Amino acid sequence: MPTTSEVNRRHFMATAMGLAAAAATLPKLRAQNGGKSANSTVGYGFIGAGSRGQQLLQHLSRTEVGRPIALCDIYSENLKKGIKTVGGNPEGYYDYKELLARKDIDAVYIAVPLFTHFEITKAALEAGKHVFCEKSLVFTPEEVHQLRALAAKYPNQIIQVGLQRRYSEFYQVARQMIDKGMLGRVTHMQAQWHRNGDWRRPVKDKTLEEQINWRMYRKYSGGLVAELASHQIDIAEWMFGYPPVSVMGVGGIDYWKDGRDIYDNIQLIYTYPKGEKLMYSSITNNAHMPYSGLQGIREVGEVIMGDAGTIQISLGKGMWYREPDAPKVGKAGAAKENWTAGATVTEAALTKGFPILPGQDVDTRDSDSFIAKEVKFAKRWLYNKGILVPEEVRDPVGIELEDFLLCVRDGKKPKANLDVGLNDSIGVILANLAMDQERKVKFSEIETMGKGEKTPAKKRG
Ligand SMILES: NC(=O)c1ccc[n+]([C@@H]2O[C@H](COP(=O)([O-])OP(=O)(O)OC[C@H]3O[C@@H](n4cnc5c(N)ncnc54)[C@H](O)[C@@H]3O)[C@@H](O)[C@H]2O)c1
Repeated sequence: MPTTSEVNRRHFMATAMGLAAAAATLPKLRAQNGGKSANSTVGYGFIGAGSRGQQLLQHLSRTEVGRPIALCDIYSENLKKGIKTVGGNPEGYYDYKELLARKDIDAVYIAVPLFTHFEITKAALEAGKHVFCEKSLVFTPEEVHQLRALAAKYPNQIIQVGLQRRYSEFYQVARQMIDKGMLGRVTHMQAQWHRNGDWRRPVKDKTLEEQINWRMYRKYSGGLVAELASHQIDIAEWMFGYPPVSVMGVGGIDYWKDGRDIYDNIQLIYTYPKGEKLMYSSITNNAHMPYSGLQGIREVGEVIMGDAGTIQISLGKGMWYREPDAPKVGKAGAAKENWTAGATVTEAALTKGFPILPGQDVDTRDSDSFIAKEVKFAKRWLYNKGILVPEEVRDPVGIELEDFLLCVRDGKKPKANLDVGLNDSIGVILANLAMDQERKVKFSEIETMGKGEKTPAKKRG
């Protein structure tokens, strides 16, 4: 992937870019961090300062829990930009092994292309670091098994995956509503991530095509399933309460015939242990949002359906609908008195859609000032009238990144942990297999895949 000249210039000092020496700026950074001592903040490294990496670094530049010690990228432009974005003059490297050798780094963020996630995660664990790795966690069946074994070998090191919806208040409220029985028995989910565009990045130098557009090629990428569906496969597992038992699907390269070898449209059906289904669609030539409750949201969303109600949800918006003919007994019937526990709702939600409101935004507390209570009351009124759309109190990406540092600092366990990440990756790997081999793939097959056993290549008859 790297050009020869990039790789050969292995060790890249921040000073070479005319920035002040990293050591000289550390006291300033600590001062910005509210004067905390170095011990109360986690020293971290960052590997892969590309498109996603820059977004993560922007969030990290605002945290007080960690301090950036070093950044690594094989591409000098991204490395320079990343150092600038995060601030604090971390040292720059071209070789991640040199970054990992530093003793003053406790934890690393990894935001490189999918096919290198495992290699770098493995090296980081072996170097004694805690790891945050972007989704999808691993690329191949072999890597699923190897990462599980590595995690068992290093039980005191945290592994967190970049599935930020796990940190969203909207999704957390949706999960609580399911727990309270407000949807009754949850049996189906629909999810889409539709875009209208070729999904390509501009390439000035043709020799860098695969390096820059790695997503388009199977040797580096899991295509739409890994890059988009992985978020929603995880939501389905979270909302149903367990991973799938099988997947089938159809994919094609039918619109963008431009040399890519990943599918440009996919349709998947996942089945769960009690017969629950996730119907999934990702296409790349129409971005319309068909879920009526998600007006104002483009491209991406999910519908969670139970016998007592429905939730339509995306990052930043959620609507709840009560089934008019919901069962009156059992969990759904008993749920009414619990309506206010997870989300702020009213009787008006009996038949028409009602916004899901993350509690912190509108729930008044005794400690709130008179003004704060009034503002929350006004907000609730505006939401109910549909005049104001509730928003995440804080971007879940910022929360997931900081929570990782807090897990490292305080010994907490991450929400988006190893099992979440591996189940998600299995969901990606097997969906691609199901489409390639045109058959229904059982999730149990992963246990023999990548262990020297042959994968059955039967086609649907
Ligand atoms: N959680 C999310 O919502 C989300 C969103 C976008 C991307 N992602 C994930 O983030 C990851 C990166 O995606 P991207 O869009 O930023 O890709 P990108 O190509 O824009 O960036 C990858 C960066 O990694 C660098 N790199 C490649 N190999 C390297 C190596 N061996 N050592 C150091 N640096 C290396 C590249 O030079 C580049 O700067 C992917 O796994 C992707 O799925 C997650």
